[in-house]
Amino acid sequence: MNKPALRELRLAKCMERLGTETAFEVLVKARALEATGRDIVHLEIGEPDFDTPRNIIDAACDALHKGFTHYGPSAGLPQLRETIAQYVSETRRVSATSEEVVVVPGGKPIIFFVILALAEEGDEIIYPNPGFPIYESMINYVGAKAVPIRLREEMDFRLDVDELAGLINDRTKLIILNSPQNPTGGVLTKDDIDDIARAIGDRDVMVLSDEIYSRLIFEGEHHSILSVDGMKDRCILLDGFSKTYAMTGWRMGYGVMRADLATHVARLMTNSVSCTASFTQMAGVEALRGPQDSVDRMCAEFKKRRDVMVAGLNKIKGFSCLLPKGAFYVFPNITGTGWPSKKLADALLDEAGVAGLSGTAFGDFGEGYLRFSVANSIENIEKALERIGGWAAKSL
Ligand SMILES: Cc1ncc(COP(=O)(O)O)c(C=O)c1O
Repeated sequence: MNKPALRELRLAKCMERLGTETAFEVLVKARALEATGRDIVHLEIGEPDFDTPRNIIDAACDALHKGFTHYGPSAGLPQLRETIAQYVSETRRVSATSEEVVVVPGGKPIIFFVILALAEEGDEIIYPNPGFPIYESMINYVGAKAVPIRLREEMDFRLDVDELAGLINDRTKLIILNSPQNPTGGVLTKDDIDDIARAIGDRDVMVLSDEIYSRLIFEGEHHSILSVDGMKDRCILLDGFSKTYAMTGWRMGYGVMRADLATHVARLMTNSVSCTASFTQMAGVEALRGPQDSVDRMCAEFKKRRDVMVAGLNKIKGFSCLLPKGAFYVFPNITGTGWPSKKLADALLDEAGVAGLSGTAFGDFGEGYLRFSVANSIENIEKALERIGGWAAKSL
């Protein structure tokens, strides 16, 4: 018998508004090219190429043997929530309690849950552009208005606080900050943070402060808006284990927010994934409490690679690149090539075997830029530079 034809898929309208993260698509395309025998240098995906430190892996194995193999509370195991509360209290110089902590599978779900919990049609959310694409995707998904704040190269990709102040109005529900920033590597200064808090004043506006790269800073130190007097209760801190401890595949992150909002986010956890895996949470306790030298070593290595990548890019025709102050990306200006970003990213992958991302993968204001991750060896970074340089000499 003939198989009946598939009926038309009648998706919910909001799915048309849901975006994606291009890095995963480029990775698939790069892998497909590799399968045909091509050699590709991977500078597209945002994950440390280091192994998770041994003490953390041992703690997870130990937890498995001790029976942490069951469901746990939706908001996270008390041991980990308490450890996170202590860590955040120390690093952000605030007093955080475990009731204010929600442990989730990765940093990303905090974006998902907080926007779901707070925003709807009629609300406005200000977000960095270029920025992590999930912000805009989720804002659009819930039907709120996405209001971009442009990050400019001439300001070292920090945001212009006067411009931000001009975007805040009575409909503004949430402001998303991200420092150190993906994709630009921009870092907000203490003055920036103070000025942003001043621009918000005593308005009833929440701030989602995405600090997932807080430990990966090359110059200066990390400043959090939570530390500003009077701001903590209006802030949701997003942080996690993926980038700091090379634990992207473990899927574990957290949010710190006023306790009543935390119960709502925990309810979203109950409705979606129930809880974060229990044994990984015990490894999270070890990550935060155990030795931290691996974090410092990884950060120093990223800094070396950043220096090689930026110096190399600045020698290539049509490219100019600022020295990013944090995270593990470089964001070269490619307007000198005369090529649009997406076309250039595609050509570098197809013709030069270097996988990077178009700046437009991070929003409209990313046009004129590419993003390369430096989470790869110096040897591979040098190989990528040689290939990009060779391609530019031949094609521009
Ligand atoms: C700015 C930013 N926030 C959040 C995340 C999500 O991190 P996780 O892998 O822990 O979900 C990423 C990951 O690339 C990121 O770049």
